[in-house]
Amino acid sequence: MKVFVIGANGKVARHFADFAKEDTAIEEIAMIRHTEQAGFFEERGIETVLLDLVKNSVDELAEAMKGVDAVVFSAGAGGSGFDKTVLIDLDGAIKAMTAAEQAGVKRFVMVSTFRTGREEMAKKNGLQIYTIAKNYADEWLKNRTQLDWTIVHPGILVDTPGTNQIKVDMGQEINEIPRQDVAHTLVSVLHNDNTIKQEFEVLSGNTAVEEAINKLQ
Ligand SMILES: NC(=O)c1ccc[n+]([C@@H]2O[C@H](COP(=O)([O-])OP(=O)(O)OC[C@H]3O[C@@H](n4cnc5c(N)ncnc54)[C@H](OP(=O)(O)O)[C@@H]3O)[C@@H](O)[C@H]2O)c1
Repeated sequence: MKVFVIGANGKVARHFADFAKEDTAIEEIAMIRHTEQAGFFEERGIETVLLDLVKNSVDELAEAMKGVDAVVFSAGAGGSGFDKTVLIDLDGAIKAMTAAEQAGVKRFVMVSTFRTGREEMAKKNGLQIYTIAKNYADEWLKNRTQLDWTIVHPGILVDTPGTNQIKVDMGQEINEIPRQDVAHTLVSVLHNDNTIKQEFEVLSGNTAVEEAINKLQ
């Protein structure tokens, strides 16, 4: 399966690249923003395309997605300003969804934030605009596209090594999860069509990634 990863140079997605390299069923195409980022992917035999969610058009994104089986969206402004949050986490995500549909790609896996919804969006904290952007990107994916979506809501991302043990559910108390385990979860989601039209929170837990994802109904 050809998987087009947006935000491929991000910390979660670099772990995804390591999994993809070992997984004969996954052929990654890494969407990066700068040529100097290509080496990491070339070392892993992964093709790169140079595109930017803000600077490039839907048509340009769609052209790069032609022949792809799935899109993974793991890009984000990462606290670089509210304007960027709206441009990347909200409009960039919607551009990616529109491009996927235009290119005839059905499968779309979104890395969202832990919790969305009206109550979360009303919280006047440093994450409010980000939460609003992620919420409406998720809503667009669910309600305004015909894509085979999965929305993954990770807890607080940490860089400790993955444990391969997770907990998936909705309405959990927020906790941490290693980025490596999020990447592993994304791989497992791609392998399990039972995750289509499903969304779930993912935290460190006591169930092996494959088992936890397999069990989702
Ligand atoms: N931090 C948390 O605790 C947390 C919790 C839940 C969910 N999340 C979500 O998880 C996602 C992945 O996390 P992460 O740690 O891997 O994030 P990250 O390391 O900040 O990666 C974000 C990626 O987005 C790319 N990007 C930024 N602007 C772009 C643009 N205009 N066009 C295309 N790509 C662009 C960046 O590219 P460059 O490498 O070129 O800068 C980077 O590779 C985040 O985006 C966030 O929404 C985070």
